[in-house]
Amino acid sequence: MEIRLHDKQFVPFLSAKEIDAAIAKMADAVAKDMNGEIPVFVGVLNGAFMVVSDFMKHYKHDCELSFVKMASYDGMQTTHEVKQLIGLNQDITGRSVVIIEDIVDTGNTIVELQKMFADKGVKQLKFATLFLKPEAYDKDIAIDYVGLEIPNKFIVGFGLDYDGLGRNIPEVYQLK
Ligand code: IMP
Ligand code: MG
Repeated sequence: MEIRLHDKQFVPFLSAKEIDAAIAKMADAVAKDMNGEIPVFVGVLNGAFMVVSDFMKHYKHDCELSFVKMASYDGMQTTHEVKQLIGLNQDITGRSVVIIEDIVDTGNTIVELQKMFADKGVKQLKFATLFLKPEAYDKDIAIDYVGLEIPNKFIVGFGLDYDGLGRNIPEVYQLK
C-alpha cells in the first residue's frame, strides 16, 4: 500500500523481515571480526537509532554504545556541509570502534566521521551501514559491513525520514 509524507507518495520497498535479516547478518559479521574484544559501537543520530537498536539485540557478546549526531540532509537533497551536532564524550583510545549508520549515500558523512575519529588513537575504525547506494557513493573509504545495497532512489522508514516524517515506519518505502 502506498503512503504519503508531506507532498510525496512512497511505495513499499523492503519488509521488516528483510531488514531484520540484513541487520542480523551484519551483527554476525562484526562479531566474527572482534576476536573476543569489546567493541565500542557508535550510532550516528538521528537516522541510525532504529538500526542500532536492532543491531545491538542481534549482537550476542559484550559491547559498548555511544552516539554522535550529524546532519547533512535538507529535505531530499544531501548538502556538502555535514555538521556535527553532538560529539563523542568517551575515551576510545586503543579501542575497536564500529560506526553504525542507517545509510551511506554520497559518503560525505562518512568522510566527516573519519576525520572526527582520526585523532582519537583508536585501535581500528570500522564502518557499518544498513543501506549503501553504490551509484551515489564516490569516496575511497571502505565500508566494512553493508546490510543491503540499494538503487539510488530516495527511501523512508526504519529511522529514515523525509523532512522529519517517516522515521517511525517499521518497513522501508521508496519514492514513487
Ligand atoms: P551522505 O553524507 O550523502 O552519505 O548521506 C548520509 C545521510 O543522509 C544518511 O545518514 C541519512 O541520514 C541521509 N540520507 C541519505 N540517503 C537518504 C534517503 O534515501 N532517505 C533518507 N535519508 C537519506
Ligand atoms: Mg544518518
